[in-house]
Amino acid sequence: MFQKINALVATAAVAALLVSGSAFASGPVKIKFSHVVAENTPKGQMANKFKDLVGERLAGKYEVEVFPNSQLFGDNKVLEAMLLGDVQMAAPALSKYSRFTKKLQIYDLPFLFKDMAAVEKFQKGPVGQELLGSIGKKGLVGLGYLHNGMKQLSSSKALKVPADADGLKFRIMSSDVLAAQFKAVGATPLKKPFSEVFTLLQTKAIDGQENTWSNIYSKKFFEVQPYITETNHGLLDYMVVTSKEFWMGLPDADRAVIKKSLDEAIAFGNDVAAKKAMDDRKKIIDSKRTEVIELTDAERAQWVEVMKPVWVEFEKEIGKDNIDAAYKSNM
Ligand code: SIN
Repeated sequence: MFQKINALVATAAVAALLVSGSAFASGPVKIKFSHVVAENTPKGQMANKFKDLVGERLAGKYEVEVFPNSQLFGDNKVLEAMLLGDVQMAAPALSKYSRFTKKLQIYDLPFLFKDMAAVEKFQKGPVGQELLGSIGKKGLVGLGYLHNGMKQLSSSKALKVPADADGLKFRIMSSDVLAAQFKAVGATPLKKPFSEVFTLLQTKAIDGQENTWSNIYSKKFFEVQPYITETNHGLLDYMVVTSKEFWMGLPDADRAVIKKSLDEAIAFGNDVAAKKAMDDRKKIIDSKRTEVIELTDAERAQWVEVMKPVWVEFEKEIGKDNIDAAYKSNM
């Protein structure tokens, strides 16, 4: 796999030269931004805001084209496509980078962060910032973190304690940590692209999935899942990413304006994320299409007890110091 990625890095260098050599002569440089979620989600709104800001500030020189809903690439293909110069920006979930670095698996550890304030604190600190650079050797540049929120468990069966999930099939993102988390409760994890989740649930090919309120709402998972357990057991966060060749091929002044626009768009997206986590939860409850189960402290403690040993399993790959630093951000 790493050989394949290195070959892609070399190809990206050629592609970037072609882009920068011909770009300004033939109209604005196109910055294709590909993502898999709906436009009204935190990521969708962030990408559209970024497009607008770049459009205002660099009109005629750069044009951001946003491709939502996996229209251009799914998250399983987008990073390779980026290295080939077929797309310039994306914001895959942190769970989808494990082919590029094992360090970002930290963000998938169950029950590591108690809330989004802890996530924010960790990401702004030295370890969080170092992790942002962890994909640098593979020809990619992490431009910033973007939040979605905490994940909940949806299922065809009411889940109150871990034993309720025993024997069920859950769709997961392409993460070994998430696979271990579901195996810990006796369930079968299946790595599937986001674009397939609704159909898999609707046809009952799988029993459940984990996601945030905004993804469960915008992709209508709640209409085909009779139960959602409010576990807040894990994090769904993103890294906005570009290729090193594209990024470093930009004139310094333009790169600074694009980065400033992105930082502002991310701040906007984070505000949207905080609001949507509450609003979309309420819309789902009000719809009466599904039952939202709130756990008692004793029930939640059982999920923590069964899932938390996953931390030790991945300690070597992630780094114990990194896990300790993340855990401390809760204090
Ligand atoms: C996303 O929010 O980008 C997709 C998350 C998923 O694949 O579940």
